[in-house]
Amino acid sequence: MNNSQDTVWFHRHSAASLTRILPRLRARFKDVPEPDWQAFALRMEEHFGRLFTILYSLYGRHYDFFYHLESILSTAVESWVDRPDALKALDAQRETDPAWYQSHRVLGYVAYVDLFAGDLNGVRKRIPYLTEMGVTYLHLMPLFQCPAGDSDGGYAISSYREVHPPLGTMEELAALAGDLRNHGISLCLDFVFNHTSDEHEWARQALAGSVEHQEYYRMFDDRTYPDQIEKTVRSVFPDEHPGCFTYRNRIKKWIWTTFKNYQWDLNYENPAVFNRMAGEMLFLANQGVEVLRLDAVAFLWKKLGTNCENLPEAHQLIQAFNALVRIAAPAMVFKSEAIVHPDEVMRYISTEECQISYNPNIMALLWNAMATREVRLLRHSLQKRFTLPARTAWANYIRCHDDIGWAFSDEDAREQGINAFDHRRFLNDFYTGIHKASFAVGLPFQENPQTGDARVSGSAASLCGLERALNLNDAHEVDLAVRRMLVLHGVLLTIGGIPLVYSGDELGVLNDYSYQQDHEKQADSRWVHRSTFDWKRAELRNDGAPPEARLFQGLRKLIQVRQNNMAFTRSETEIVDPGNDHVLAYFRQHLEQSLLVLANFSEEEQEIEALRLRQLGLRRTLTDLVAGILVIATETLKLDSYQIMVLVTSRPS
Ligand code: GLC
Ligand code: GLC
Repeated sequence: MNNSQDTVWFHRHSAASLTRILPRLRARFKDVPEPDWQAFALRMEEHFGRLFTILYSLYGRHYDFFYHLESILSTAVESWVDRPDALKALDAQRETDPAWYQSHRVLGYVAYVDLFAGDLNGVRKRIPYLTEMGVTYLHLMPLFQCPAGDSDGGYAISSYREVHPPLGTMEELAALAGDLRNHGISLCLDFVFNHTSDEHEWARQALAGSVEHQEYYRMFDDRTYPDQIEKTVRSVFPDEHPGCFTYRNRIKKWIWTTFKNYQWDLNYENPAVFNRMAGEMLFLANQGVEVLRLDAVAFLWKKLGTNCENLPEAHQLIQAFNALVRIAAPAMVFKSEAIVHPDEVMRYISTEECQISYNPNIMALLWNAMATREVRLLRHSLQKRFTLPARTAWANYIRCHDDIGWAFSDEDAREQGINAFDHRRFLNDFYTGIHKASFAVGLPFQENPQTGDARVSGSAASLCGLERALNLNDAHEVDLAVRRMLVLHGVLLTIGGIPLVYSGDELGVLNDYSYQQDHEKQADSRWVHRSTFDWKRAELRNDGAPPEARLFQGLRKLIQVRQNNMAFTRSETEIVDPGNDHVLAYFRQHLEQSLLVLANFSEEEQEIEALRLRQLGLRRTLTDLVAGILVIATETLKLDSYQIMVLVTSRPS
């Protein structure tokens, strides 16, 4: 069939299927009032075509395809019927403002429930702290039932429908989501859907010999297939287990485990798995989740002879989940976690796939600029790669719960005369403090001697030099470290997209080495930057002198600049060259308002030629919104050590 025949075929079959299935579903849910059903059916009609096309291409070869199709649709209807009224109201509200996450008001905060506040009720009590900062989006790290002891920080899920008991209950989660919403804060939770823990009910059944449940995972009787796969697939946690399979002698099978040996990869070639996971996803949506972080998207689909990352079917799966959400829980959007080559990161981003995506490229290159004091590579790469399709947004971050991987493009580096392999080595040396000129204190993560690959763990403040400076009792270095933290966050807040603050960074929390005493954690250095929130230190935030207060107040100021200026909403970012390679520069614009952000990435004072500024259309007298003062650029404009300026051309008086 050619393409247009294809389209006709799909159109006819999808329309016919819907005409067949909808009345049957209506009959099953006859209690739903007619106007409600009509509204739902309308959405179904709008999105069914693409859902059908994707599901057919993934599962059409199954003899019972239409049975699965109907089961999937009935999962969608059941979930929608169960959806609380408050969330249906939110669905309607979001329809009038679908790209709400592009607003300049949006500010993200990322925290572990237990470390931040003990439990879910504790988080409720801390809402005033979040609103004080201006937070409007809260990502709580995985909080569902998981194995005792090591659970990859909750990323090994044993039940998507039960909260991990020490943290609270499902009712408390839904109540928290509602409370947050009432305070203007959207809840973001993970959908860990590449794998379950080996204690999940499906895994238990599989271990007990249920063939049906063994088919939920990818299992092999001997090493033939695993050996072939491991020729082309990288090991994500080589310290944990080289390769990506784990043997379970109880069933005498090799199980695909991309991450840790107790995280079993789901088998999405089985349509029953897609349906069950769609049910789990929509269940989460109905608890009040507004942003669903899709974990480890790159690994969803596997194919012999490939590296099993970013395969076309992985995209189709997400698009199918997206269509189901548009039908049954339209207020929710997806955020993609693809920590891969920037070209591949981009492919997950669209309104029909993930509306939001982490930006690991900018994360890595900001740290690169910090180490080298130069922004050339950052500027070059942003010029090529920062623009996104309409109605989608970056989630920008410098730290999260994971390690820092140097996921920038070798090609971008080459174009700037940089050898990527050597340079990554330098960055690892720099941020683990081996390099003699380093201010950073970090730890290596998953060094792979075979490939020379390594990543870095550490808190933002320790990586910015605060730990070392405090140990040396060096006030000047403390000052520089605080400035580094502020310029990094300043860029996150102004460059466009959702800025994510990682809990503790607003107070300059240092590395916490206590995990090394815990035998469940000591092999995983990511715990060095997952520490218990210190509410005593938080009290210092309004106290003038200490680094905590300088950071918190400095950050507050930058947040206000963001939240008070429409130029940080939606519109495009134009990266420009200010004629100084230590200074990152970009325009943000909204209607009449045009802002130029200048960020100095070196501890030396930097100058921008006044002539260059005038070439860029700026006047001689400018207002810096950060310092709140008028700046006059007669011959040059001076930026202090690590200073960030947000310049607005002052109106002629
Ligand atoms: C994601 C998480 C990471 C976890 C992995 C496996 O990448 O961010 O912490 O180890 O997925 O779930
Ligand atoms: C790899 C994976 C990413 C995961 C990380 C955990 O970078 O690509 O998904 O978060 O490892 O360390």
